[in-house]
Amino acid sequence: SKGEYQDYLEKEIFEQPESIRRAFGNGGRLDRDFGTARLGGIELNGSQIRNIRQAHFIGMGTAMYAGQVGARMMEGLARISSHTLDASELRWSNPIVEDDSVYFALSQSGETLDTLLAVKELQNRGGRVYGIINAVGSTIARACGAGVYIHAGPEVSVASTKAFTGQITSMFLLALSFGRIRHLSPSEGKRLIDALELIPDQINQILAQSAQVQDIARRFKHATSFMYLGRGVSYPIAMEGALKLKELSYLHAEGFSSGNLKHGPLALIDETVPSLFIAPEGDTLDKVISNIQEVKARKGPVITVTNADSRELEELSDALIRVPKCPEILSPLLTIVPLQLFALYLTRELGRNVDQPRNLAKSVTTD
Ligand code: F6R
Repeated sequence: SKGEYQDYLEKEIFEQPESIRRAFGNGGRLDRDFGTARLGGIELNGSQIRNIRQAHFIGMGTAMYAGQVGARMMEGLARISSHTLDASELRWSNPIVEDDSVYFALSQSGETLDTLLAVKELQNRGGRVYGIINAVGSTIARACGAGVYIHAGPEVSVASTKAFTGQITSMFLLALSFGRIRHLSPSEGKRLIDALELIPDQINQILAQSAQVQDIARRFKHATSFMYLGRGVSYPIAMEGALKLKELSYLHAEGFSSGNLKHGPLALIDETVPSLFIAPEGDTLDKVISNIQEVKARKGPVITVTNADSRELEELSDALIRVPKCPEILSPLLTIVPLQLFALYLTRELGRNVDQPRNLAKSVTTD
């Protein structure tokens, strides 16, 4: 039941500290001594993992955006060339399946027909496909036969939230374990595990500031078009943040890489179009700040999600949402939470049905 919450979406957003803990097995999937993770469902041995040349992550919608985060984690931690594929496109693309490639199919429901048919097409060509799935015993889980359950628990609200963060956590474990077999040092592995274990409490800190996000949603409720911008691991977070807002509120929202801003999208900016920047501390921050300046120069309102101590960011932002500090590679688990809350509160302001948006179904079993 919804318990103390007004809707399932709110409940599922607030459950994420617990659901993320379950995704790392309440510690049972972590090996602190060796600075690695153990995923029983991935039955590849060390030499097979060392020989992987390409990893592909497939899914639809939110699951696909999770896959884009996963691909960046796999490249960053395991130095395996990684790509994300839209499952509905893959089926018609005559895919090239090589022996040194590995595939991961992402799905909350495990019933999405586009994803299932892509899995079957890959398997038909001899591809190894592992599932990263929430629903235990679902069709895609059975079709893959092996993989990782994310253990997010039942997700009732149509818009996916805790499955997204559960999938990202699972892919982080995967990338960490592959990384430790390939190039990642024990001390780096330990540092990342320590950081991961802080994430649930850090999300609690963000949730404790939800009233601030609600105020920001109220301030911007008359806007009809929103831009979401980020770089690196924050680029898929921009895409996912925009998807949450459009599917729940029916407002126009678009995600872009912030580097792409001046290649066209900047033409959309004026004082009526707010931009949400995902600007975690790390390699990309300076560049994101210069993108924010480009938006401000066109009088665009700026809402920033950041964990950086930057006077410049504070001065440039019309609203600033702080998240706790963490390594940039884990930041998607924190930065997505205020964006989920923003979509929830804006949708409530507009009086729309949060749990059952028009035209959408929880699992899409047609292709
Ligand atoms: C967005 C959303 C959809 C699903 C997509 C895949 O909030 O819910 O984009 O993520 O239909 O669904 P699953 O993960 O069940 O395969």
